[in-house]
Parts: sequence; C-alpha cells; structure tokens
Amino acid sequence: NWTPAQIIEDQIARVREQVGNRHVLLGLSGGVDSSVVAALLHKAIGDQLTCVFVDNGLLRKAEGDQVMETFAKHMGVKVIRVDAEDLFLGKLKGEAEPEAKRKIIGNTFIDVFDAEAAKIEGVDFLAQGTIYPDVIESAAAKTGKAHVIKSHHNVGGLPETMKLKLVEPLRELFKDEVRKLGVELGLPYDMVYRHPFPGPGLGVRILGEVKKEYADILREADAIFIEELHNAGWYHKTSQAFAVFLPVKSVGVVGDGRRYEWVIALRAVETIDFMTARWAHLPYELLEKVSNRIINEITGVSRVTYDVSSKPPATIEWE
Ligand code: XMP
Repeated sequence: NWTPAQIIEDQIARVREQVGNRHVLLGLSGGVDSSVVAALLHKAIGDQLTCVFVDNGLLRKAEGDQVMETFAKHMGVKVIRVDAEDLFLGKLKGEAEPEAKRKIIGNTFIDVFDAEAAKIEGVDFLAQGTIYPDVIESAAAKTGKAHVIKSHHNVGGLPETMKLKLVEPLRELFKDEVRKLGVELGLPYDMVYRHPFPGPGLGVRILGEVKKEYADILREADAIFIEELHNAGWYHKTSQAFAVFLPVKSVGVVGDGRRYEWVIALRAVETIDFMTARWAHLPYELLEKVSNRIINEITGVSRVTYDVSSKPPATIEWE
C-alpha cells in the first residue's frame, strides 16, 4: 500500500544519500521516464542536477520548446538544449536501411551527449529513467533469452567511458506507477500520459532516406492527426497514434492539372503490452477530417491512407 507521495519521499532521501553534494547529469528526452526523473531529482537536489536535451531534428512539432517551457521555464530545472539537427541529418544522408538509421541516430546521440557532458565540470553521477520492465528486458537480453529485434537505444550503452555512477530512481517501478509519480510531482498531465515515442523518433517514420523536407512535412501531418484525435476524444482511447511519411509520389488533380505529391499514412493502435496490437477503429468522420486537413493545409501532400494492419505480423512502426 504505497502512495506516490511516499515513493517520492523515499526516493528523495535515497538520492540525497547517494549523491551528497555532488553533481548529476541527466539526458532528458521529453518522454515520461526521463521527465519524471528530472522532476524528482530537481526536487531532491535542485541545482546539483544538469539536464541535457538533444534536439536531433527528428522530434514532433514544438516538442523541444515544450520541454524547455516545462522544465527550464516553469520548474527552474537547469537544462542545456543542444540543437543538433544538422549533425543528425548530415550523418543520416544517403542511408535508407532502417537498422543502420537506428544505429546512426543512437550513436550520434551518444556522441553529442558525451561532448556536452565533457563541458560540464565536476559531474560524478549519470541519472537514467530506467524502469522495472527495462531491467527485466536487459537482463533477459544478457542471458540470450530475448531475441533482440530492434536496436533500441534508450536503455544501456550510454557513456560507459564516462565512468559515472548511475542514479536510477525508477528502477523498481512500472510505467503506471511512474505516471502517478509524475502527476504527483506536478508535471503536466499531457506530458505524463502522452503516447510512447521511439528513441529514433521521426527517423523511423520517414521510410528510407531521411531528409529535412520530409521531416517538416511529417511533423505538420502528425500534429494535425494528434490534434484531431484530442478534439474527438480519441487520443486516450488509442495506445499509440502517428503519421508516417511515404517517399512516393502519387497523383492528385488540382484545377486542370495533375500534380504528383507525397503520401502520408496514418497509424493508430490499441494495445496493452505493445507486443500485439489491433488497429484502432477510428470513426470515418474523424479520418475524413484529418485527411482533408492534411491535404489542404500541407503543401506537397496529395493523398492520405489509413493503416489497417494488426501486429503481428505488422509492427506498430513502419520500419
Ligand atoms: P514495433 O514497431 O516493434 O514497436 O511494433 C513496439 C513499440 O516500440 C517502439 N519502438 C521503439 N522504441 N527505439 C525505441 O525507443 C526504437 O528503435 C523503437 N522501435 C519501435 C514503438 O514506437 C512501439 O511503441
């Protein structure tokens, strides 16, 4: 019979004991886990926490600003924002293979994070938003029990060269518990109950080679879809929903002319554990509105499709 308030109190005491008067570094992604760690550590050790937020150019619309607004502006957390869009897009240039793209994004993240960390003096600890299922998963991976299908980069593998001690205050908690902690810590509800977003971000939602033009179009399309899901009361009835950029040109008629433009796919699923998933049976009226808005408001898109594939065999992401 624990309460979020009790866990927070316990963890604050534990963190203070572990860290003393030394400094802690945290990679803040804007996801639930790292956000809750940031809020918790800020409460525990205040200015001894420095967060690094890497904008890789593959984030959703306004995501970077929201993170800065919530943490730096409202909560007074020390956050260094690194604008690394050009670096990431440069490294991804010419690469179309999904797993190679994941590796590039993961490795570049580590490089950027390491470089930032090296500039901060006197850091002894690295905080991570590891939660209980991550602990289980990586233990299974080490004993070879888990078949590693995708190279997720948000667990493990972080700066081992940095010789930092780990601070992992969520290690014993499940996701729903982490969310309750987040609410108790005063994080915005929308941040705490947001759909999961993969580490490689839009990088795996732009099929094939990633280009800035594609990412900009996809960000707009995704924002329209998510906004309309909220408006229709469907966002929280789905487990994950997003737009995908298909780098193919399809025909559209405008006036007397034929235009060949990009295609956007919409994906929305219902799932408990993300291992299996059913495509969400969204109302036709909602799909119609989203489709009309995407085609009318975004230059360069002439067609919208809805993904009606279940997992398995189709995965939730398209790459
Ligand atoms: P799939 O596409 O495998 O996705 O059905 C299952 C869940 O995992 C997320 N996902 C990722 N998360 N790095 C991440 O951090 C990745 O490379 C990655 N690939 C998929 C996906 O968004 C879904 O929630």
